[in-house]
Order: sequence, then C-alpha cells, then structure tokens
Amino acid sequence: MPTTLEVQFAPAEYALMTGRDLRQTVCVVFDVLRATSTMVTALGHGATGILPVAEIAEALSIRQRRPEVLLAGERDGVRIEANLAGGREFDLGNSPREFTAERIGGRAIAMTTTNGTRALRACAPAAAVLLGSFLNLGATAEFIEQQAPPNLLLVCSGTLDQAAYEDVLGAGALCDLLWPKYCGGMVADSAQIARRLFLLEQKDLLAAVSQSRNGRRLMAHPDLSEDVSFCTQRDVFRLVAELGKDGLVRIRTPDAVSAQVGVAGSRTAPAE
Ligand code: MLT
Repeated sequence: MPTTLEVQFAPAEYALMTGRDLRQTVCVVFDVLRATSTMVTALGHGATGILPVAEIAEALSIRQRRPEVLLAGERDGVRIEANLAGGREFDLGNSPREFTAERIGGRAIAMTTTNGTRALRACAPAAAVLLGSFLNLGATAEFIEQQAPPNLLLVCSGTLDQAAYEDVLGAGALCDLLWPKYCGGMVADSAQIARRLFLLEQKDLLAAVSQSRNGRRLMAHPDLSEDVSFCTQRDVFRLVAELGKDGLVRIRTPDAVSAQVGVAGSRTAPAE
C-alpha cells in the first residue's frame, strides 16, 4: 500500500480538515510551545488523563461536576485568572514545569489553551491522533514505525492564526526520523520543507526556537522563559500520548492505534 506523508503548517489548514476523509490517517499534533509539550510532561509525571477543551466555560463545568479534576490552561500565555473564569483561578497554567509529579500525579486535568486544544479537536475524526513534542519524539517515531500507518499527517498548531516556527521544526524532526519509511511513498512538499528546516536548525534547536515569535514572547516573561529550553529537550519521556475516541489524552499502549487504523470509527469531540 502506498504511503503518504504531509505536514500542515497553519491553523487555516486545520480549520479546513472537516472536509477531509481522515479515517485512514494518523495525525500527530505539534504545539511545541507549549500545549503538547505540557500534556506530554503531565502524562510523564503521572497525570491519569487530560481533557482538552476549547473554552474556559467547558473546563469550569467539568470542575462543577467532578471537583477532583484539576483545571489548567492559558490565555495570552498566562494562567487563567479568576476574572476570566467566574471568580475561580485555574490550578495550573500552560507551563510544563508546573506539572510536577507532586502537583498532578494521579490526577485528571481539564485543559484549555489557545491553539493546541483547537488543533487536537480538529484532528478528532482521524484514525488516531497522537501528541508530538521534542520531549517524546523518539518514542512517538518508534511507535509510528511499528504501526506503519499508510497516511501520516503532521499538524502544526501555530500561533493565533499563523504558522509557528517551533512546530514546523518539531514536525520536521519527526519527518526526519521517519524518512526511511515514508520517502518511497507520496511525500508532500510540506514534509520536505519541514524536514529541510529541521536539518538546517538541528545543531542549535534552542537558539532557533528562542528566535521564534512564541519563543521571544516566552523568553521576555521572567516566569516562563525557561519553558523554551525545557520544551526543546529531546526524548525526556519515553511515552506515546494519544487523544482517545472518548476525547481524553492519555498514554498510548501499542495495540490500540493499530486497531484504530483502518477502522471507520469517528472520534467524538472531547467530552467531559
Ligand atoms: C497554545 O495552545 O496556543 C499554546 O500552547 C500557547 C502557550 O504557549 O501557552
């Protein structure tokens, strides 16, 4: 069976995904700064699952029904404060360094961020949706190699309405690891672009990411500047993170993706 490898760079592209048949496609969503890096860190430190939701109100209503669920997320990059959330400050922001085992171990988290959660939801109809980051890149690549999905679509979450440099670098790094598997198939120019950009920048990823729009924004914030170096570390966590059909992000076990690929199932939008 021929394989395809494609990268989507900007939010405008994932907004059009409702028109695509993704039932035979595995999506990998990258929000390197910071949503997918943060979710991977949360799982690596023992969170039981993360429910990505688009709106603050959705997170609050989950908390009302399930008081044990932690609320996490950002607006304008910083933790959601009480004035945006009906008087209730969120427990955590979107900095991966906040998600320590002490704070989130054994807990479920409802999380809302600007772009990352939107991108995950846009991919929901796919056969499988994985979360990509530098922090779990090797494990994700190995998993995809084992499962060998025919169609692989790497989705860059972007920043507001624009492409984000660090997401394209993350997607390019995954393209590079998987190149031997996919280069004999139909490789979209977008995958070539992402891979070449990664090869150009790989010697000093931190410098490259620091100069991105998101990187500059975080570096200028005293409490968040270290997030940039944190999120550019390679292979800190040997885990594969997946958005399940029930809308929950959790650690993936090898068999479930292969079971989903080729099955014409539909994933419901992340639910409570
Ligand atoms: C997002 O989802 O847009 C980002 O993760 C924003 C951020 O860095 O907090």
